Amino acid sequence: MQELAWINGTVSELAAASIPLEDRGFFFGDGVYESIRIYNGKPFRLEDHLQRLRRSAAAIMLDLADLPKLEAAAPQLIKESGCPEAYLYIQLTRGVAPRSHLFPAGVKPTMVMYVRTLPPGFGEAAQNGVACITVPDERWLRCNIKTINLLPNVLAKEKARRAGAYEAIFYRPGGVVTEGSSTNVFAVCGGVIYTHPESNLILSGITRQVILELLPAAGLPFKEEAVSLEQLRRAEEIWISSSTAEIVPVISLDGKPVGDGKVGALAREVRQRYRAAVQDCCG
Ligand code: PDD
Repeated sequence: MQELAWINGTVSELAAASIPLEDRGFFFGDGVYESIRIYNGKPFRLEDHLQRLRRSAAAIMLDLADLPKLEAAAPQLIKESGCPEAYLYIQLTRGVAPRSHLFPAGVKPTMVMYVRTLPPGFGEAAQNGVACITVPDERWLRCNIKTINLLPNVLAKEKARRAGAYEAIFYRPGGVVTEGSSTNVFAVCGGVIYTHPESNLILSGITRQVILELLPAAGLPFKEEAVSLEQLRRAEEIWISSSTAEIVPVISLDGKPVGDGKVGALAREVRQRYRAAVQDCCG
């Protein structure tokens, strides 16, 4: 078992891997990324993540010519690393060039990926429910692109941590709830599960998508419709989702209990069904 990195086709130990100082990811955050959960040595929904990576790269006009090399190498890197419970991180930037805002001519993108292990029991504590805070969504208007420009997200998450909370949930002016700093948000209002529709205001999460695929079979009513901050405050249940954290119930919001302040029945059920989908795919 070894944490491995792949940089433009060269494999090394993760701890020994490095990229040049003049990478545009470092100067400008000029790049896109993906985080993919590995269970039992197998990636979950790798194809969906690679498709989203292509969409993000195209949206920032990144040269995609060499991307098939990374796509072909990803399963091999996961296999070679032999890490059972881990994640694969992929990042593409506009490459290495003297600092200038203009796109550099004739420069190939930097393509990086690595496999990092998750500690045993990762995320289990969160399954018992977490506290969240709400914060104004001060991000740009292209949140559907999974860019490495994450400063507003980082600041929001740190604000949550300092408030003793796990995640910060964003709302736009007027009170439309969008998503978390690194998660999508689901709220149960009047027995119906709501989540913000796909748009430029959210990152369309792969986990969100898997959940939406599971709900009809479970006979659970849902709407891809935004909720307001007031609706969120009155929600019977809230949960948040991401590839790494999976489905995390929210039991308190801005210091007040959500519903009865315990993990909700729907969150529990959806989480079980999600785990079953993971097991079907990864064993
Ligand atoms: N974040 N919304 C935002 C802003 C995110 O950063 C993420 C994921 C999600 C959930 O997407 P998915 O279900 O595809 O993981 C929603 C990853 C985990 C990260 O930043 O590492």
